[in-house]
Amino acid sequence: MVNKTSSSTYQPGRNINDIQKTYGIKKVIKLASNENPLGPSKKAVIAANTITKYLNRYPDSKSINLKKAIQEKISKKNITEDNIIIGNGSNEILELVARKYLSQNSEVLFCKHSFLVYKIISNTMSAKIIESKPISTKDNSFMGVDLDSMKSKITSKTRVIFIANPGNPTGVALPIKDIEVFIKKISKKIIVVIDEAYYEYSSYYGFKSGISLLGKYPNIIITRSFSKIYALAGIRVGYGLASKEIINKFNDIRQPFNVNYIAQRMAKESLSDDKYLKKSLDLNNIGMQFLKLEFDQLKISYLKSSTNFITFYLGNKTQQVYEMLLSEGVILRSLENYGLPSYLRVTVGTKDENIMFIKKLKKSLKRIL
Ligand SMILES: Cc1ncc(COP(=O)(O)O)c(C=O)c1O
Repeated sequence: MVNKTSSSTYQPGRNINDIQKTYGIKKVIKLASNENPLGPSKKAVIAANTITKYLNRYPDSKSINLKKAIQEKISKKNITEDNIIIGNGSNEILELVARKYLSQNSEVLFCKHSFLVYKIISNTMSAKIIESKPISTKDNSFMGVDLDSMKSKITSKTRVIFIANPGNPTGVALPIKDIEVFIKKISKKIIVVIDEAYYEYSSYYGFKSGISLLGKYPNIIITRSFSKIYALAGIRVGYGLASKEIINKFNDIRQPFNVNYIAQRMAKESLSDDKYLKKSLDLNNIGMQFLKLEFDQLKISYLKSSTNFITFYLGNKTQQVYEMLLSEGVILRSLENYGLPSYLRVTVGTKDENIMFIKKLKKSLKRIL
């Protein structure tokens, strides 16, 4: 059963041990949290092992070496270390945005079915949550942010807008030029967060980053994660890019040692491992094409994803299939608390995991019919 919790409680994917015990099965695969199935870069793992003897020391409070590596990777003249903040996951950066800019008297705006953390952090600050409507198609194959609807919801109290590009759990990306048209039209007093947790994947599919907008608009914050393509979800590290003024504000309120030593080091090494990046993206793309083909053959609609997951439509069979898959050792993400009870989200896994998922999905669908 899906735990019944408030729609704004974050529900992580079910864990493997729990499913093994509940159903008395050995082989369980987790395709629920958009993790990279390859595991972290070997370079990052080796570096982590070499520094364990120094863990009596506090980490670098400014994460300077990691910032330098990010700056080098981004390679844009207007991005210096002063424009970067490192966080305990990109969630920490999102939380800093809420703490700095939201309050009881302010409004926060994001599209319906957005990443649940936006709601959680806004609630913490007692800000009023306003949700714009998404654009969707009748055949359940698209669900993107409707920037016109978003614009129509802006009031004099709007302080922060969150746009995940691509979105989670939709997987849908917007062209950055559309986002720029939107940003151009709105007050510079409103902070616009472009959440690029899945940027590396969407870039593979031809979508551009919002980084080019940073120099032009002072009210933009870009967030990125090491949890997805770089497979460091367990160690918690992400970053934010913004004007020096905004970054300084975050530095004033963050914990001094918010990013642990191993996380800083592993993230830095990961950025320099281009072979690993390519291997991860290629593996994801092969898995993505395989899953899409199988969905097409099963006549299952799915949202157009530019990430490492696919959100697919099962209508009134969704809950039953979700539970049957769990009992067969396949953990997916139920999207009930995202207001999408007729969809499930599957993370692209290894070749064997993808094959097992499809096999068990077919079995579950047959049993229901
Ligand atoms: C859209 C989006 N933003 C941010 C995050 C948070 O990532 P992190 O692990 O870096 O905190 C996630 C994680 O699932 C996400 O999907």
